[in-house]
Amino acid sequence: MSNILTLPPSRLEVMRHLEGYVDQMTNKFLRPIDNNWQPADLLPDASKLDFFDKVKDLQERARELSYDFWIVLIGDMITEEALPTYESWLMDVEGVHQGDKENPWSRWIRGWTAEENRHGDLLNKYLYLSGRVNMREVEISTQHLINDGVDIHTAKDPYRSFVYTSFQELATNLSHRRVALLAKKSGNTHLAKMCSFIAADENRHAGAYKHFVSRIFELDPSEMMLAFEDMMKKKIIMPAHYLRESGGKIGELFAHFSDAAQRTMVYTTHDYIDIMNSLIKEWNIDSMRELNDSAEKARDYIMGLPARLQRISERMKTPEIPYQFKWITV
Ligand SMILES: [Fe+2]
Ligand SMILES: [Fe+2]
Repeated sequence: MSNILTLPPSRLEVMRHLEGYVDQMTNKFLRPIDNNWQPADLLPDASKLDFFDKVKDLQERARELSYDFWIVLIGDMITEEALPTYESWLMDVEGVHQGDKENPWSRWIRGWTAEENRHGDLLNKYLYLSGRVNMREVEISTQHLINDGVDIHTAKDPYRSFVYTSFQELATNLSHRRVALLAKKSGNTHLAKMCSFIAADENRHAGAYKHFVSRIFELDPSEMMLAFEDMMKKKIIMPAHYLRESGGKIGELFAHFSDAAQRTMVYTTHDYIDIMNSLIKEWNIDSMRELNDSAEKARDYIMGLPARLQRISERMKTPEIPYQFKWITV
């Protein structure tokens, strides 16, 4: 789909109608900044005398973790660090009005971005201190990802965009949670705590985006159903889809990153299907009424999709030998 998508005028009406509701959701789903956790709460304090002992301890614990584990954590960090891309995309969505500072939609997106910004910040500092990572290569990949941009096939459509963010926040919640679990299993409770904190944020954010879509289903069911179908047909593209390393081509690294995520069971094809099923349930797709003919067909397509993907995924195989990334040299 090109970025020029003609949207029905109902989009703007619905977005305007929901402004008061979004204000409430912003207060409900985002934390007050002064009490919120900050990366400094979870990292050694360089102004303290015990800083070097703490870093030594952090580096010793980091030795226990596997190659694939580091690849997943680095890839997760880079995609968190590409936050400027996601903020600029959401600010451009129809009905958001970023020029109006007081508009509830733009206020939500600023607040969401401000919370998200801590994720890349925390993981970046941890990876730097761990001593396991070639930071220059990681930073090159981050710069490339922001420079390349992503096309997640939503254009400026709020309906498609909120399907995407609902899905994406659930996926990141799951992957940060799994990374936390792996860290805990290897005795690294410190890293486990960091990833659990991030996962909890992602869960709150998913809650908000799922509510936005639920409200839109109440107001404009057929159009919302068609948007959901369209996003499912195209598949949800992870921002990591466009990852590359120095000297490489755009997107070349994604399959290798994804293989590491499958091998460590941090994020698998089954998780993709599980998330789809949970959204189908959350939005009561099965029992939705008052749909026009094409939306009825879209609903049938969505309901049949998890089983179809399940059959395809059973035939897929993940390579056993990891690719040698430039991100890790020691
Ligand atoms: Fe995040
Ligand atoms: Fe997120």
